[in-house]
This record gives sequence, C-alpha cells and structure tokens, in this order.
Amino acid sequence: MTSLSDGLSDGPQTDPDPPFESVDEVVAALHDQGYIADTRLATTVFLLTRLDKPLLLEGPAGVGKTELAKMLAAATGRRLLRLQCYEGQDETKALYEWDYGKQLMYTQILREKIGQVVEDAPDLATAVERIGENESVFFSERFLAPRPLLEAIRSEQPVVLLIDEVDRADEALEAVLLETLGEFQISVPEVGTFSAKQRPYVLLTSNNTRDLAAALKRRCLHLFLDYPSAERELEIVRSKKTGLADSLAEELVNVVRGLRELELRKAPSISETIDWARTLAVLGVDELNSQVLSDTVSVVVKYDKDVKKALDALPRLVDPNAEIEEPGHGHGHGHGHGHGHSHDEDDEDDDGDVDGRQVRAGRDTAGRHGEGVYGTPNYAKGSERDAPAKPRSVTSGQGSRSFGLGRKRAL
Ligand SMILES: Nc1ncnc2c1ncn2[C@@H]1O[C@H](COP(=O)(O)OP(=O)(O)O)[C@@H](O)[C@H]1O
Ligand SMILES: [Mg+2]
Repeated sequence: MTSLSDGLSDGPQTDPDPPFESVDEVVAALHDQGYIADTRLATTVFLLTRLDKPLLLEGPAGVGKTELAKMLAAATGRRLLRLQCYEGQDETKALYEWDYGKQLMYTQILREKIGQVVEDAPDLATAVERIGENESVFFSERFLAPRPLLEAIRSEQPVVLLIDEVDRADEALEAVLLETLGEFQISVPEVGTFSAKQRPYVLLTSNNTRDLAAALKRRCLHLFLDYPSAERELEIVRSKKTGLADSLAEELVNVVRGLRELELRKAPSISETIDWARTLAVLGVDELNSQVLSDTVSVVVKYDKDVKKALDALPRLVDPNAEIEEPGHGHGHGHGHGHGHSHDEDDEDDDGDVDGRQVRAGRDTAGRHGEGVYGTPNYAKGSERDAPAKPRSVTSGQGSRSFGLGRKRAL
C-alpha cells in the first residue's frame, strides 16, 4: 500500500485567509459576479466561509441554488467541483474509480515485462500469485480516477464543492456523502486515506423531491431559498441586461409572481422570468398586455395544463381591476369601484404614459372586448388610477393585492 505524503493526515485547516470580512462584503462580491443576494443569503454564505460546515440549500427549481455555488467559486477565486446527483448513481461516481482504460493500456505496453514475471512459474496458481504480488502497481494513485469528492479532498488548492440536487441521489449515496463530509477524508483501501488540506466550501442543493436524512441536515448550515421578493427579482432581471425596459420588467415580475400563485405543475422560476423578459425585448414589446403575454407564455410555462391555467389567469394578472372584481369577472372595470387610490383626471387621456398602457392592457380581457378594441382612446376614460406621482402604481397595487406586499417600489 502506498502511503500518502506527510501532512495529509493532519486534518483540514480552516481557511487561514477568509475571503470576506463581513456580510456586506459577501453581498458586494457576489454582486460583482452578477449574483444578487439578500442579507439572509449573504449571512449564510459568510458563515459557510467561517465555519467548517457544508451549506444545504433547499428550495424550488430555478431560484439560484446552483448559481450561488458557481458565483461563490468565482467570487473567491476557487475552482468549482460539481457532483450532479441522479437516481441510481453509485458511490464510485462520487468518490473515485479506477481508470480501467489506463490500466489496460499499461498492461498492453508492459506485456513483455509481465510475461517475465510469470515466465518460470510452474503452474497457473503460482502465476496468479505472482501477478497478485504486483497488483498494487496497478491499483496505485497513478491509476486512480478521482471523482468530485476525492478531487475536492485531494486538491492542492481549496475548492468549492457543489453537490447538486442531492435529493435525487439514493439514500446509500447520501450516507456516503454524510460520512465524507463529516471527516473530509476518503479511504481508498489500495492506496491509503486522503484528507483535505484545506476545507472546501461545500454546498449541497435539494429541490425537495424527497426528505433528506436528518443527520445530513444536522451537519449542515441550512438555507431555504424561495422565490425572491419582487424587488430582488426585478433587480436580478435588470442585472441580466435583458433589453426590456425597467417599467415593463417590473410589471412582468408581478405577472410571473401571479403565475406562481396558480397551482401549476411547474411554477415559473427566475430563469423563466429572465427568458420572458428577453423574449419580450426581442419582440420589441413596449407595453405588456394579455395578448403579447399569452402569445409568449410558453416561454415560462411548459406543461399543457399549466399553459391553459396561465392563459386563463393572464388577463387578470395584467389587469389589477379584474382581480378584485371576482364575482362579476371584469364587471365595471375602472368605474369608480375604488381601490383607495387617488384618481387623476388629467391623466385620463394620456395614452403615452405607462399607467395608461397598463390600464389599457388590463382591459384587454378576453371575453370582454373584441380584438382591436384595445388601444382606442376611450380605453383610458374613467379608468382607475393610482397617484400620478407613481406611474406604475397599477402594478404595485396588483402586487399588494396578489402577494400581500406593501406598495414597495423597486429600487
Ligand atoms: N440571486 C440571483 N442573482 C442572479 N441570477 C440569479 C439569481 N437567482 C437565480 N438567478 C438566475 O436564475 C437561473 C437559475 O438558477 P439556478 O441556480 O440554476 O437554479 P436552481 O439551481 O435553484 O434550480 C440562473 O442561471 C441565474 O441566471
Ligand atoms: Mg440547480
């Protein structure tokens, strides 16, 4: 058995030179990489870099779990090693394998030499015995094919280890992970025990398709990442430079948030909001109405039934008035039923402002108006308005009704 170099057995060292001095620094460093973190997330990341604990990120698909690991690696200058988990995956894919091809190649090249070893063996058993004595040559570090866990532990430079979608792995693999992450060492019987010189930052993600072992959760820092607040989502969309005007992006974020409240098989995630914004920008859309959103809805909802539900809901989601008119569905739109907003008569005919467009868009409700009606000057007449100082107040109002948020404006 080959013993490993000295020092490996000393156990991992906590990062002697932690990358962040404060939570604010985490926010700024991630921001520089294009990742928008709130303080809760940044605090957890800060702790990850200071405590010797892996971080378990749970939450729906598409909320930025994987992305966080990538951006943390970029922000800290560490290499990212990723173990993508899947059903039926066995531990060799996580820990290490033997490089069979290389072993074979060596035996081919060395055939003559191997022949000499067994040349004078009187019988088969003796020949096998002799080969066996030399086995360790072929089961040495040279022929080891490290998979992400071993690679992370063996790495000379500290790394970020991402164990992605751990809920997809079988429980047996989860147990292996638990053991490995507990000790930060891996034993390869033929070679020896590898211990991490410096602890990797370990992030595990789970989409919650099944419960993880309590022991795994106990061992980890834990963060539930949910869909972001409207403000943060807008900030994310903005940061992606989708080409969509801010005002429309803000409306769009609220529409997506509305879609998330429907019982969809797969709720739209942040990436879908970004895709939708890009799509609308490419189409040169300069106002959101249910028509253009319906035409492009397949960008954000991918199942047939979801599409139907979304199409039903879209007119209501772009039209705040329709939403509070539950029983009559669309009855009496914009005729003084009062949302507690101030009413600005002067603005009524101004088709150019965002508010006017919104109200028009909102009125473009299927079943109420034929196509082509939308956009006529009368559309804006008698419409409900928020205070004129807040041009996108309809959106905000929608937000507060739909999501119980205050009338917060995006940054
Ligand atoms: N906080 C964020 N800042 C910037 N982009 C984000 C953020 N959260 C999500 N995204 C975007 O959403 C996409 C999907 O995120 P991802 O990490 O793949 O989701 P998950 O792993 O949670 O399923 C990313 O590629 C990224 O573009
Ligand atoms: Mg992911």
